[in-house]
Amino acid sequence: MSQYSTISTTKKKTIADLQQMKQAGQKITSLTAYDASFSAMLDQADIDILLVGDSLGMVMQGHSSTLPVTVQNMIYHTQMVSCSSQQAFIIADLPFMSSATPLQAAENAALLIQQGGAQMIKLEGAKIKAIEFMVQQAIPVCAHLGLLPQSIYQLGKYAVQGKQEQDAAKILADAVKVEQAGAQMLIVECIPAALAQRISEQLTIPVIGIGAGVHCDGQVLVLYDMLDISLGRKPRFSKNYMLQADSIFAAVQSYVSEVRAQKFPAQEHSF
Ligand code: KIV
Repeated sequence: MSQYSTISTTKKKTIADLQQMKQAGQKITSLTAYDASFSAMLDQADIDILLVGDSLGMVMQGHSSTLPVTVQNMIYHTQMVSCSSQQAFIIADLPFMSSATPLQAAENAALLIQQGGAQMIKLEGAKIKAIEFMVQQAIPVCAHLGLLPQSIYQLGKYAVQGKQEQDAAKILADAVKVEQAGAQMLIVECIPAALAQRISEQLTIPVIGIGAGVHCDGQVLVLYDMLDISLGRKPRFSKNYMLQADSIFAAVQSYVSEVRAQKFPAQEHSF
């Protein structure tokens, strides 16, 4: 047996594959994942992106916001997800106050890549200097605009962003700026579908929506919301895929095929 026989021959998705999907008009599928078992299952269901989101603070740790999540928590969960995924692209979140300066952002991102096994790092807000600095250090960046859960104490409530013309213009301008700064992906959360469509059409990088309508280049949901096992109120933009499935695996497969066929999100999940 060759000394290299333990190296997996399964091809792991890359940012170039996802970019190519946007160009070909193929919808990108993504769900959050926080542990090895779900990671392996979602991977088998052919999900394109596993997002180790700091939403784990709410759905796994039971907090009322994502604010208590630490970089160490993120590394721990990213390790579990990356060790059992064969083909999906892995993005990990920089949690609250872990990107207050460009250097801090890059150092924490490096930990998530080196120790966690992430292929791309997501940070909330149009932190242009941090994005530019991370990109200079060869860190692939996913920006996150619209509803920013880490700003919940400033916002007061989880609500749709960009409904007023002025706010929509700011989100669109920020989207252009993060792409110019070198971000290679953008997640837009809880914004009007028409605004998300403009952003997706204007940007060349993949734009992944959550509560942002069907015209984004791809969709992401919090896994525990679509399996109807998260604590508390379910967001309107999510869908309970367990209602018509006889297993968790079937529910995930149904989500993947609905996103690819542009059946999800429907009008009732959009703003
Ligand atoms: O933390 C998370 O799960 C996220 C998604 C809601 C996009 O950022």
